[in-house]
Amino acid sequence: MYAFFKKPTPKIRQFPFKADIHAHLIPGIDDGPADIAESIKMIRKMSELGYQKLTATPHVFAEFYPNTKAKILDSFNLLKKEVAAASIPVELSVAAEYFLDNTFEVLLDSEKLLTIHEHQLLIEISTFGKPLNLYDLIAQIQQKGYQPVLAHPERYLHLSDKDYQKLLEAGCLFQLNMLSANGYYGRPVQKRAFHLIKNDWTHFIGTDVHSLNQVELIESLVGTAFFDQLLCKRSYTQQNIAHFLGFF
Ligand SMILES: [Fe+2]
Repeated sequence: MYAFFKKPTPKIRQFPFKADIHAHLIPGIDDGPADIAESIKMIRKMSELGYQKLTATPHVFAEFYPNTKAKILDSFNLLKKEVAAASIPVELSVAAEYFLDNTFEVLLDSEKLLTIHEHQLLIEISTFGKPLNLYDLIAQIQQKGYQPVLAHPERYLHLSDKDYQKLLEAGCLFQLNMLSANGYYGRPVQKRAFHLIKNDWTHFIGTDVHSLNQVELIESLVGTAFFDQLLCKRSYTQQNIAHFLGFF
């Protein structure tokens, strides 16, 4: 009978993240914002949500977004000036999201890649199948002194539990997309996201936002039951992320 008086679990009403390691914020160089106006709106909205540090991670994907390091840095510097002119209180940094195709190995051998913080390298693979040499590529990345961070592992439905475990054992970190857990990418990805969360196979929660609309969707999650569930694991609390990245 006393269950009736049991205090309800407090819901998280405040946005809990202060740093994002995966966001498409630079206009016109990938499938992110179309122009600088949209970039500014996205960054302002993220700052209002509570983000203090944002890492812009445009695609480096030879087939669709053949961005060079110089192009990314030039475009980022222009964006940074506009953000400063708009007086948005946020610290911006730049990295990239590298697609593991056969041009990646050449790139890895030829230049210093753009990393999150010091040496974390954000990588992605096809949603249709893993590269035949995936584990060899992971080893090569590490041999060059980078720590691989696999973007949205929950979206690779072709990966088995054995694959996830093998990647984790190899030293790969996993970054889950916030919107995956909300069903944005469909029910199977949502189920996979919670499977990864349940197994504690997630190290970071990123936004992977490409548009203002997606930032607004993220804002709408605050206070929902799913958002509480998303945050109940220790691995990606704000403190943990902050500690890992040395941000705060
Ligand atoms: Fe991305």
